[in-house]
Amino acid sequence: MKTMKAVCIYSYGGPDVLVYEDAPRPHPGDGEVLIRVHAAGINPVDWKIREGHLKERLQHTLPLVLGWDVSGGVEALGSGVTRLKVGDEVFSRPDISRDGAYAEFIVIKESEVALKPKSIDHIHAAALPLAGLTAWQSLFDAGGLSAGQRVLIHAAAGGVGNFAVQLAKWKGAHVIGTASARNHDFLRKLGVDQVVDYQTVRFEEAVQAVDVVFDTMGGDTQERSWKVLKRGGILISIASPPSAEIAAAHGVRQAFVFTQPNAAQLAEIAKLADADKLKAIVETILPLSDATRGQELSERGHTRGKIVLRVV
Ligand SMILES: NC(=O)c1ccc[n+]([C@@H]2O[C@H](COP(=O)([O-])OP(=O)(O)OC[C@H]3O[C@@H](n4cnc5c(N)ncnc54)[C@H](OP(=O)(O)O)[C@@H]3O)[C@@H](O)[C@H]2O)c1
Repeated sequence: MKTMKAVCIYSYGGPDVLVYEDAPRPHPGDGEVLIRVHAAGINPVDWKIREGHLKERLQHTLPLVLGWDVSGGVEALGSGVTRLKVGDEVFSRPDISRDGAYAEFIVIKESEVALKPKSIDHIHAAALPLAGLTAWQSLFDAGGLSAGQRVLIHAAAGGVGNFAVQLAKWKGAHVIGTASARNHDFLRKLGVDQVVDYQTVRFEEAVQAVDVVFDTMGGDTQERSWKVLKRGGILISIASPPSAEIAAAHGVRQAFVFTQPNAAQLAEIAKLADADKLKAIVETILPLSDATRGQELSERGHTRGKIVLRVV
């Protein structure tokens, strides 16, 4: 049996359960493609799954390869694959209930894969899918964000937040973003109209009458966000499901988004990247064998943009 280098877990726990090893190379089945991974993005969901937080929901079988952000080349096709061909350069946010991309190869359903942006390398392309789709599905599908609306984006410098800022500006929205002081210049350059320092200012005292709140934090941040919304506005969370009762009491709407794979939206994201309207910002690049360090950095909660593993 052919093998590949991969980072797996055999049990749930801290960073020490990550194992860099030789694992069996997967084979593409019906409607699937085998991708040679060039780069894999790291996201908070990776260490949340490693810690066992999603085990009831996802019912993974261990050992499990982590990582659900990938850019690479199509190496082989399963039967029934018609849209992609061997040699295509692609990117994907694959199904997180299956083995991930901290590996030299991954098998993904063709329907979850899009051609990568031509103008950026694999490292930057691997930063885009999960966080880019999350921002897209939250602001556009759930929030219906449109030109001229005011949007408050929490953790605007983070993996999801920075794409949300760029997509909201592309739509023509007025963007307010929260971050600590070290990220203020970064956010202004990204196009944020009003930056709020969440460490020194209570954001609800600096922000009023927004159409959309994008909550990437949950907890106290979510609770304090209701009062900044206009009547009829919407709070969208990707951190914890907002209360329908509290929303009704404020005369606003709420939604919880759990991001889904979507090749058509990835193709839109690739077009924006190639038109230089969406930049992938990568703060740290590490070798695959250093996935443990990458997850430890992510867990600190202060990444600017993304952390990406170089595989090739
Ligand atoms: N439901 C879904 O489908 C879905 C999808 C993607 C992500 N998520 C979740 O969404 C969350 C964000 O993901 P991410 O990838 O953007 O995380 P991330 O990249 O790790 O976020 C880091 C950012 O958070 C900022 N931050 C930390 N504490 C903050 C606070 N109290 N207020 C405002 N900003 C703060 C940091 O800015 P400073 O350094 O300036 O503090 C940093 O830039 C995670 O919990 C993740 O699991 C859910």
